[in-house]
Amino acid sequence: MAKNPLMSTNPLIYSTPRFFILVLSIFFAVVSCAPGRTQKSAQPEQEGIIVGFSQIGAESAWRNCNTASVQNAALESGVQLIYLNAEQKKENQIKAIRSFIAYQVDVIAFVPIVSDGWDNVLQEAKGAGIPVLVTDRKIITSDESLYAGFIGTDSEQEGRNAALFLLRKFQHAPVVRIVELYGTEGSSVADGRARGFREVLQYHDKFSVVYSESGDFLRSKGYELMTDILSRIEGFEAIFSHNDGMTLGALEALKERGIRPGKDVVIVTIDAEQAAIDALKAGEVNCVIECNPKTGPDIMELALKLAAGESIPRLLHVKEEVFTEFDDLSAIAPREY
Ligand code: AHR
Repeated sequence: MAKNPLMSTNPLIYSTPRFFILVLSIFFAVVSCAPGRTQKSAQPEQEGIIVGFSQIGAESAWRNCNTASVQNAALESGVQLIYLNAEQKKENQIKAIRSFIAYQVDVIAFVPIVSDGWDNVLQEAKGAGIPVLVTDRKIITSDESLYAGFIGTDSEQEGRNAALFLLRKFQHAPVVRIVELYGTEGSSVADGRARGFREVLQYHDKFSVVYSESGDFLRSKGYELMTDILSRIEGFEAIFSHNDGMTLGALEALKERGIRPGKDVVIVTIDAEQAAIDALKAGEVNCVIECNPKTGPDIMELALKLAAGESIPRLLHVKEEVFTEFDDLSAIAPREY
């Protein structure tokens, strides 16, 4: 299989439309000269497939691990990957998908930054006969035929697991006031985590979410939000944070104020980055819910099936664990993110 130097494992970051067009032009020029591509129609069974992958950005250690998982799996399975980093902008993702269509990739895989607003571009992909795999975050669409399937996290279950830990932790407490650090607004993972969390707690009157605001899954915003909250909100017993990045920022803000995280305030966080597991072991976090970023091998397997014209399951949730202060934490394997 021909290897294209522009289909490397290094993230390509496009900061301006001109740069984007320039790089794509070079990309098309190099690819059209590659012997492997010109032989595609003659010997399809000997060719590697081409997958266009639109990632949302590099906002967290979790995201970087997810990107590396996809890139490494592509290399290992002989798939040529066109990776585009959307730098947290939906419009960049739409442009990326259009460029994949123009290039006639075999399969498009993308992580939708928010749930809504993909129908038009997915209609274009469908019109071009290119199957689309949605991964990590889900979409809301009026036409389910616009994508072949989804693989990723079960965010509702993550939210339920967070609530179930609080039920156990506060079984004898009279009142539990919760501050929620919300992920990116309109993203399926943030909305799902919030929904699952409330679904469980709605039957327990002593629990209430007294404050909820988006920190966009960013550590810096977690710090800013918590600093602001501590200057305005009177008292709360627990923090439910939608990701470890925001949690780590919040821990800094709490400590600056002389508040002992994990002791003066109970903290539940999602992702299970190494830093969060370390904080759990140090008693600064009380519960860590895994969100599994290592979906690359499954994505490649599904993409190969789609390229071969096979159908795939509509919905695949990855396996995820829960780590709490009640568990034996000595056996947790290094997280790699
Ligand atoms: O979509 C998954 C979420 O996105 C992860 O929880 C978070 O860390 C990332 O930014």
